[in-house]
Amino acid sequence: MQEEMIEQLNRQINLEFFSAYFYLDVANYYTAENLDGFANWFSIQEREERDHAFFFIRYLQDNDCEVRLSEIAAPHRQYAGFEEPLKLAYSHEKTVTQRIHDLYDLAFTQKDFRTMQFLDWFIREQGEEEKSVKTIGDKYTLFVNDQKSLYMLDGELKTRVYTPAAPADGTAPAALA
Ligand SMILES: [Fe+2]
Ligand SMILES: [Fe+2]
Repeated sequence: MQEEMIEQLNRQINLEFFSAYFYLDVANYYTAENLDGFANWFSIQEREERDHAFFFIRYLQDNDCEVRLSEIAAPHRQYAGFEEPLKLAYSHEKTVTQRIHDLYDLAFTQKDFRTMQFLDWFIREQGEEEKSVKTIGDKYTLFVNDQKSLYMLDGELKTRVYTPAAPADGTAPAALA
């Protein structure tokens, strides 16, 4: 694997951990606001982002490449209201999608077919990530015009459960199996 690819994959590890950190911050915000369902949904999202980071770590390790962990930016910000984190999460996922596409583009340019295959899972995953987070934002905008609707949406989000994801090639890190 070429050095530029190793560098960019390491950068992606940092971004996945930042995503986890950001969603943990959002979960904490909703917990403080007593919206336990929203908090639950983002807690699971946080866990999934850590899984993504470990997929990249394992991929580098399996290819005898150095893993370089770097400083994770602080996520905390003041949210203007219940809807703002949903909008921020959607735009964040679109940024991540772009970064995955940039990685794929680099792999394509370098004829790094193994990395292209590894990234296939993330390309599909990002489609799902964008859709799921956008759906919650859309539901909020559509239905949440009173406290009862908010309570019902919170109840719906409370039902989400964590299920470990695995890349399509089945190489889920052992720590997650
Ligand atoms: Fe991710
Ligand atoms: Fe994500």
